Amino acid sequence: MKASDLIKLAAEAREKAYAGYSGYRVGAALLAKNGKVYLGCNVENAVYPAGICAERNAIFSAVADGVREFSRIAIVGGSGDKLKGYAYPCGICRQVMREFCDDDFEIILYDGRKQLKKTLAEILPCSFSKTDLDF
Ligand code: THU
Repeated sequence: MKASDLIKLAAEAREKAYAGYSGYRVGAALLAKNGKVYLGCNVENAVYPAGICAERNAIFSAVADGVREFSRIAIVGGSGDKLKGYAYPCGICRQVMREFCDDDFEIILYDGRKQLKKTLAEILPCSFSKTDLDF
């Protein structure tokens, strides 16, 4: 799927964000290697740490559907109705990506005007992963 189509889906997912505490709304559209797309938005909570980011929401939704291989994700974010800046994934989401995605997994960012593409290896260098564990 084209980057621009995935961005459109991420923007649609963002409309579902439940982000009344921070006001920062995020949408993610995750493309699996089998062609399926999983959407996620951030879902906040009165107990702040109980909330979840849009990216993990999308990834966990795919895993719950039995899908664990992914090629790219589009992410958009900003306060209120407008997109603002590139919504880079937080550290925890990067680590969750590490669990299921290869170094060349593509992160597509869109600030409302321009696209920016990064690989997982670029945004999470020197990472720890399941390949480091002996079991
Ligand atoms: N957020 C995401 O959804 N993804 C990220 O990678 C960064 C942060 C959400 C979490 C919280 O609901 C809000 O943005 C402000 O941190």
